[in-house]
Amino acid sequence: MIETEKLQSVAPEGAWQVCIDPACGARFEINERFYVCPGCGGLLDVALESATDTGPDRLREVWTKRLASFEPNDRSGVWRYRELLPFAADAPIVTLAEGNTPLYAAPVAAAYCGLEALTLKHQGCNPTGSFKDTGMTTAVTQAVILGARTVVCASTGNTAASLAAYAARAKLQCAILVPRGQISHNKLAQSLDYGAAVLELDGNFDDAMRVIRELAEDASIYLVNSINPFRIEGQKTVAAELLHQRGWRVPDHVVVPGGNLGNSSAFGKGFKELKDLGLIDSLPQLSVVQAEGAAPFSALFGSEADVLTPIEHPQTLATAIKIGAPVSWKKALRAVLESDGRVLSVSEQEIADAKAIIGRDGVGCEPASATTVAGIRRLVANGFIGPNADVVAVLTGHILKDTDYAINYHQDKLFTHDRAPDKTKEDRRIAGTYSNPPARVKATKAAILEGLRRHEQEHPGDLLHL
Ligand code: F0G
Repeated sequence: MIETEKLQSVAPEGAWQVCIDPACGARFEINERFYVCPGCGGLLDVALESATDTGPDRLREVWTKRLASFEPNDRSGVWRYRELLPFAADAPIVTLAEGNTPLYAAPVAAAYCGLEALTLKHQGCNPTGSFKDTGMTTAVTQAVILGARTVVCASTGNTAASLAAYAARAKLQCAILVPRGQISHNKLAQSLDYGAAVLELDGNFDDAMRVIRELAEDASIYLVNSINPFRIEGQKTVAAELLHQRGWRVPDHVVVPGGNLGNSSAFGKGFKELKDLGLIDSLPQLSVVQAEGAAPFSALFGSEADVLTPIEHPQTLATAIKIGAPVSWKKALRAVLESDGRVLSVSEQEIADAKAIIGRDGVGCEPASATTVAGIRRLVANGFIGPNADVVAVLTGHILKDTDYAINYHQDKLFTHDRAPDKTKEDRRIAGTYSNPPARVKATKAAILEGLRRHEQEHPGDLLHL
């Protein structure tokens, strides 16, 4: 029996919910059911006041021992780091063995970005194919602790699929609100299979988010969008898993996509807590990349303004991040500024090409994830990231999350939705710079060999010298 249980648990005695607005700073019990500060409406953080009772060496040792355990809470790449989480040792955890996502060296993507090396942290390898699972295991566990009957979220598809799966595990009723016709079929298929009530809304994600916050005023309904601080708690453990996998060597840069900005907030919180605990002695520079047509956070970062201006009609084919009014921008801004990161946006063409390049490393991802590699390429070009820097791009979703996009790109049939009157359909076409269309061949050996020869001619194997 591995001795994994003897560490001091943080929770719930040593954990609080705290309003992040410095002018307010109100504190609440950990099991009070708020999503935002009831006083000022600010976002809430979970503060862990006893997390420092165990020293960094002991934490490292226990977390490593747990890798060899078969207990469900040790197998989970989230609950393995439970000393960082605001839950009692006997919490009724709802888990699908989430986390445990791989790090990949990506030489083709590195060359494309102008880097010596690039590491991909592939959170698309989670049980439902996106990073959302790392936050859903904690949020749905908290729903069970609070005795909720129904769990709900608004979603561009991945949060929905993840919640639907975890709600099924917990035997909770689940309702998800998605913008009708604006999410990928693959994600919709997941939610249907997992048995959620799928409510397709006439409107966009931001409309869905607004309605769902009204709905969550009802006491039997528990909201698990990333405005819920328990989502962020689970997602922040990815910072611990990443550092653990790297032998606690801190990368120079970590780059994430930005939509509703929960993920960047969670990485920021995770790295900061690891530093406060003495597990690392510096913070990686955390940068966030958005799609040009849905980039209110990038616009804020590049301006003198101190308040985010929402975008009314966000547009991007990376539907996961088609968001105009990101809920967690204040937390994300804090994380970027604290670590001296950057926020930028990239075009639809850059996203599509970066995605195809990631594929050539044998990894693959959904479009939103590819903003990272496109963004890193820009940050190397403008000198913010040096060519020898140690860089981690976080891939957030699996390639099979949006197969229509991939198939259209590879057949030169991918078009943006920008319907400005002066734009022809041709103007909206995304060039298949690295496309790899299927070829139709006769069922003969000669035809197949000829097909192979042609493929080799048209797609020279070595992309390292891009
Ligand atoms: N990448 C993927 C694949 C996503 O699904 C999302 C968000 C993001 C990046 C952005 O993360 O919102 O934390 O900044 N998807 C949400 C959803 C909005 O409903 O599935 P964020």
